[in-house]
Amino acid sequence: MRRSLVLGNWKMNGTRASAETLAKGIIAGLGDDVAEIGICVPYVYLPEIGQIVKNTRLALGAQNVADKPSGAYTGEISAGMLKEFACHYALVGHSERRTYYGDTDQSVAARFCQAQEQGITPVLCIGETLEQRQQEQTFDVITAQLDAVVELAGIAAFSKSVIAYEPVWAIGTGLTATDEQAQEAHQFIRNYLAAKDQAVAEKIQILYGGSAKPDNAKGLFAMPDIDGGLIGGASLDAESFLKIYHSV
Ligand code: PGA
Repeated sequence: MRRSLVLGNWKMNGTRASAETLAKGIIAGLGDDVAEIGICVPYVYLPEIGQIVKNTRLALGAQNVADKPSGAYTGEISAGMLKEFACHYALVGHSERRTYYGDTDQSVAARFCQAQEQGITPVLCIGETLEQRQQEQTFDVITAQLDAVVELAGIAAFSKSVIAYEPVWAIGTGLTATDEQAQEAHQFIRNYLAAKDQAVAEKIQILYGGSAKPDNAKGLFAMPDIDGGLIGGASLDAESFLKIYHSV
């Protein structure tokens, strides 16, 4: 049986002080151990938040990781550096990275491998734009995004990773995929993996992301192939993030 996972993605928000308050607020309200839970925080807050979450079950994550191990790559942060700060997760291929910073399916695959080499669990973010959905290309886009990682890392690598299905049109827009739309995509992803390795497909946590909120999380999480959520806006408030967590 897969355990559910709820991950917060703080994006480029907050201050040093508000980050500390938010992390402490989440820990204070964790309550029953209903699922796995973590927060992906801005790089510069990793050391401090790492100290705050130490010895709690709130896991720490980064929002990206370099596609190379080290060297002359100004502005990048390597998986080895993240490991030094007890990072458990690293998002790779978030749509904002793909859209604004030129991450490609291939560079995302390289980031995925770099994270795994350091024992960090990559959270591979995939999903289609509104235009692609309207042109009925959703499954082709998802397939290409997954193919690139399978080619570089191999199917077995997915047993130590998480996938987040995030329709781009639902991210930060207030437009959530319906429970059925999300389930359809999640089932497609699981079937894609199952065709290559049944055990990997059954084990992997596939999260939904895109305007998930306290009032729609329960319905989404009740779907058979949705194993939790990647939460942006609603993770910036401890109470709403915890409500989502307790909806799994
Ligand atoms: P959102 O963001 O919940 O604010 O839509 C989700 C994400 O980008 O991971």
